[in-house]
Amino acid sequence: MCLYWGGEVMYGNLRYISEAPNLRPIELTPATNNAAHDAVFSCKFTHRLRFTANVFAAGNDTLSEILSEQSGHCSNVAVFVDANVARSRVNLADEIGNYFKRYLPEKSPKVLIIPGGEQIKNTELDFKRILDDLEQSRLCRKSFVIAVGGGAVLDAVGFAASITHRGLRLIRIATTTLSQADSAMAVKNGINAFGKKNYMGVFAAPWAIINDEATLETLTTDHWLAGFSEAIKVALLKDPLLFEYIHRNCDRVRSRNLKIAIPIIRRSGRLHFDHITQNGDPFERQDARPLDFGHWSAHKLEQMSGFELSHGQAVAIGIAIDATYANFMGWLCDANHQRILECLNRIGFRLYHRVMRQANTLLGGLDEFQEHLGGRLTIPSISRIGETFDIFEIDTNQMLAAISYLKRFHEWGKNDDKTDS
Ligand SMILES: NC(=O)c1ccc[n+]([C@@H]2O[C@H](COP(=O)([O-])OP(=O)(O)OC[C@H]3O[C@@H](n4cnc5c(N)ncnc54)[C@H](O)[C@@H]3O)[C@@H](O)[C@H]2O)c1
Ligand SMILES: [Zn+2]
Repeated sequence: MCLYWGGEVMYGNLRYISEAPNLRPIELTPATNNAAHDAVFSCKFTHRLRFTANVFAAGNDTLSEILSEQSGHCSNVAVFVDANVARSRVNLADEIGNYFKRYLPEKSPKVLIIPGGEQIKNTELDFKRILDDLEQSRLCRKSFVIAVGGGAVLDAVGFAASITHRGLRLIRIATTTLSQADSAMAVKNGINAFGKKNYMGVFAAPWAIINDEATLETLTTDHWLAGFSEAIKVALLKDPLLFEYIHRNCDRVRSRNLKIAIPIIRRSGRLHFDHITQNGDPFERQDARPLDFGHWSAHKLEQMSGFELSHGQAVAIGIAIDATYANFMGWLCDANHQRILECLNRIGFRLYHRVMRQANTLLGGLDEFQEHLGGRLTIPSISRIGETFDIFEIDTNQMLAAISYLKRFHEWGKNDDKTDS
């Protein structure tokens, strides 16, 4: 042990004259001893969520309010737009340019159009291009990266932004039902790698999330439906009244009645948002993933179908599998089981896909799920609508029976699956 006092350090019989003579005396631990020092610390984050329509229109100050507070500190802004969003709104790049001229004339962001959909998470070259674009935009760490698109674009751009300068400020402008109802609220960013879904990525909270509800009108039927599987999932876990509302309005959701559909997406978004900010485990340090009902199989189904099944469609099947398993295990009553399948089916989800014939491969999703999360296998299940509990092991025979039940459900003609050819 040695003492450090008034600029002189005695270490054994060596005297060392410090250049910082006013330091307080401290104890120095001899380098030969093991040492440990633990401290708990926490950081505050602000999660910002805005609902709007036509975010880049003149007169809409949702984005400019978020940016203007901090824009003096940032060197530049980069905007990445999902190619299918750009295609559905021909003048979008000009609109964005004009928006910045009007509200933040000192910034003239480059608008970069990037491929939309799962492809952006599957292709190394596309990801590298985002990193190149970020580098060429000469952004400092206080700069904003704005990602406009579906969940896949938000995930990939978010990941690139979070590893550039160790983290730029990300603004997610969500343009699909699924991203608005769920994924944009998350603090996860990532891409697929080694044939595994979301294998590479980071937890990094976005600076802000903006749901642009006007964008939903141009979605294809499948992508329109996708977000409602996440809304049904979170309703089954947390909000029986939301489930009632969706169940009562299945046909109107299917026919894209925005007056009915938007409140469902908003409520689902809020439930996911509140989960991040209030559940106490936003960075998923614990074993449980309370919102991942139906997800162990959904991720595997996406991969097994070569991403023919979108995340939302796969989640609908995953919910059907987990609800059927809960029923077969005696946890969920027949009436609620049938209501869940009926709701998914009437909204327009197909609850069976031909890859489910390889049921044992599908069960491999359990191991991958556990490996991805770490710790003990922990899967949320339900005993009633709105009542959830965790399960830690799976009865393989009952799970195989649940998967095969959905094939019969499909064959009974309740499910019009044209993909099972
Ligand atoms: N980060 C998370 O916590 C989290 C959570 C859930 C899901 N996800 C991820 O989100 C992704 C799925 O997101 P998604 O369902 O939004 O699908 P998506 O991003 O694949 O988008 C679906 C399709 O719609 C197009 N599109 C997007 N907006 C459009 C618009 N307004 N008009 C017309 N076309 C439009 C896209 O280009 C794409 O072709 C998956 O990769 C999933 O893993 C991430
Ligand atoms: Zn999901």
